[in-house]
Amino acid sequence: SDKLKLAKELSDTVVYCRSVHFEGFDGSNPRPSNEMSSFSEGKALKLAQESGTSFIRHNSRQLSRIYPAGWRTDSSNYNPVDMWNVGCQIVALNFQTKGTEMDIYQGRFQENGFCGYVLKPDFLQDQNSKFNPRSITEGSWRMRKKLQVKVISGQQLPKVNKGKNSIVDPRVIVEIHGVHRDNDKKQTRVIDNNGFNPYWNETFEFDIDVPRLALVRFMVEDFDTSTKNDFIGQFTAPFPSLKQGYRHIHLLTKNGDPYPSATIFVRINILDA
Ligand SMILES: *[C@@H]1O[C@H](CO)[C@@H](O)[C@H](O)[C@H]1NC(C)=O
Repeated sequence: SDKLKLAKELSDTVVYCRSVHFEGFDGSNPRPSNEMSSFSEGKALKLAQESGTSFIRHNSRQLSRIYPAGWRTDSSNYNPVDMWNVGCQIVALNFQTKGTEMDIYQGRFQENGFCGYVLKPDFLQDQNSKFNPRSITEGSWRMRKKLQVKVISGQQLPKVNKGKNSIVDPRVIVEIHGVHRDNDKKQTRVIDNNGFNPYWNETFEFDIDVPRLALVRFMVEDFDTSTKNDFIGQFTAPFPSLKQGYRHIHLLTKNGDPYPSATIFVRINILDA
C-alpha cells in the first residue's frame, strides 16, 4: 500500500497558521493569534486606504497575507510599501518580475541579513495604535528628518543597451518610498556620453515625516531622447540604515546582483527637521 511519507516535525508546524476568511475588523473580539487571512492586493489596498488604523491593529494580532491581483497575467507587481505601512506580514510579489517593486523588496529585507524577516516598528505592533499612514498625526512614528543627498559622481557605469552605438548618457534619480506624503523623487541632469566618470555635483533635499517606514532608492538610467530610458543600476536602502558622510553606493543589476565596479559617489546628510 502507498504510505504517505511525512516528517512528524514538519507536519507539526502546520498548527502555526490557520487560514481563515477575513470577517471584518472587530477589535472587541480578538481571534487566536495563529489565524491568518489572505487578501488580494485590491482588497488590502482598499482596507489600508479606508481603515488604515484598524488594519494596523488587526495586524498586531493576526497575520495577513497579500497576493497579486488575478488580472496581472503579465506577472507585474504592486507596491509592497503600501502593505508594509499597515503592518501586513506576508506581502507576496511575483519574484520572477524584476523592477522597482522587487528592488524595494530586496532593500527592505537586507536590513536583517536577508533572513526574510524584519521586526515591525513599535507603532505597528501596538494593539491600540493610533497611527494612520494616510494621515500623519503626532506620535512616536513622526520623527521629522531632512535628508540631504549630494549626488557627486559615477564610476564605470556599464552600457546596458548594447544595440545602441552611442555612449551612455547617465542620470541619477533619488526616490523616497514610504508613507504617502513622504514619497518623492528628484533627478540630476543628464551627462552626455560619459559612463566612465560622470560628474553631477547636485544636491537634493527631502522632508521625511515617518523615517522608520521610508526606503531610499538610488537609480541610474541611460537617457534617450527617442526611446524609453534604459535602466542601468540601482541600490535601495531602508532610511534608518543610511550612513552619513561620503559614500560609494555599489549598484545592483536589474536582477539584483552586484555589478563588479559600477558605483555612484554621494554625500548623505540627515538633519532633524
Ligand atoms: C559643486 O557644487 C558646489 C555647490 O554645491 C560648488 O561650490 C562647487 O564649486 C561645485 N564644484 C564644481 C567642481 O563644479
